[in-house]
Amino acid sequence: MRQAFMAVPREQFVPETVWVVEGGAYRPFHRQSDPLRWARMVYDPVQSIATQVDDGTPAATGGDVPTSSISEPRAVMSMLAELDLHPGHQVLEIGAGTGYNAALMAERTGPGLVTTLEIDPQVARGARTALHQTGHHGVTVVEADGEQGWPQGAPYDRLVATASVTSVPWTWVEQVRPGGLILAPFRTTFCSHGLVRLTVSGDRAEGRFAGALTFMALRGQRTRPRIDALFSARSWEESRESRAAVDLSALANPHAEFAVGLRLSDVAHWSQDGGHWWCSQDSWAYITEGTAYQWGPRDLARETGAAVQWWEDAGRPALFDFGLTVAADGHRVWLGDPSEMWPPAADQVGDTPRTLTAPAPGTGMLA
Ligand SMILES: C[S@@+](CC[C@H](N)C(=O)[O-])C[C@H]1O[C@@H](n2cnc3c(N)ncnc32)[C@H](O)[C@@H]1O
Repeated sequence: MRQAFMAVPREQFVPETVWVVEGGAYRPFHRQSDPLRWARMVYDPVQSIATQVDDGTPAATGGDVPTSSISEPRAVMSMLAELDLHPGHQVLEIGAGTGYNAALMAERTGPGLVTTLEIDPQVARGARTALHQTGHHGVTVVEADGEQGWPQGAPYDRLVATASVTSVPWTWVEQVRPGGLILAPFRTTFCSHGLVRLTVSGDRAEGRFAGALTFMALRGQRTRPRIDALFSARSWEESRESRAAVDLSALANPHAEFAVGLRLSDVAHWSQDGGHWWCSQDSWAYITEGTAYQWGPRDLARETGAAVQWWEDAGRPALFDFGLTVAADGHRVWLGDPSEMWPPAADQVGDTPRTLTAPAPGTGMLA
């Protein structure tokens, strides 16, 4: 892949106007206003660049959420390393974005073998233009919802998603040949970083988590419980106050956060202003300076504490120890051995379902 990185001019895939955070909102940044800053951003190995916000319709006061980007070079490289691409491979990418990753893959596979799907018409047009300008005429950019895959080009040797999923669509498995790979950033509502690498066989796709990467969510998988639907002056007054019996410092460990997220997959969690917030469909919790405030039927602080304790007792498993099996009727996470049920029946945390069917979080940080 080194040759591919040398051959593809990343700067030609980055629009003249991108979006940067200033004063708490995304604001347009024009290349001509500071060409050196623009160039530094483009070639910073650990910076993704937002190329669209709010699905292309930001408010006049600024953008809220990035909805398309060129991923950071480090993430692009890690994913391509996991994808194990070979010349002659037929590839489907979900999330064309700028077209940069598709161009890199085409350098490796050879011409006419990469198809990339993009749900946003304007973004798809941009990718097509950039790919033509850099001479990657053999890449096919299709404006389509990637959750359906693209059966016209199946079977694929590799399917790679550059937008994250909470559930791997079965159509993807159906469109990859046996022995082929699916590589996708996987997230729960709680935790957004898990890159899963699945090998397709007759009736399933199965494999381990291969790394920690955070991408924006697939458009159809953005839903998540919203704190503004539950939190009010009244629910604050009604909230239960107690000593926080949970060691939140453990969640700074990405492996712990990932494991806890698998167990509380329907709960959103974030830190803000020195405190921690949780939100499920019917409950919220807030912990600051050792005091927990909770509202609703669930005790999210206790559930988090139990999940952290489980992780400690289980010998602090790493993200790489977990895996995913996708079948026609849904998917299942496992720890260590794909044939063993996880979590064990006697080992449930709160209301955590055994099979993950959680709603996806909204868009967040980008890879
Ligand atoms: C992080 S960007 C992809 C980066 C891209 N691969 C590149 O090299 O620039 C994610 C892209 O996925 C697209 N996307 C989101 N949901 C999608 C869906 N259901 N089908 C196809 N594309 C989708 C977004 O519009 C966005 O452009």
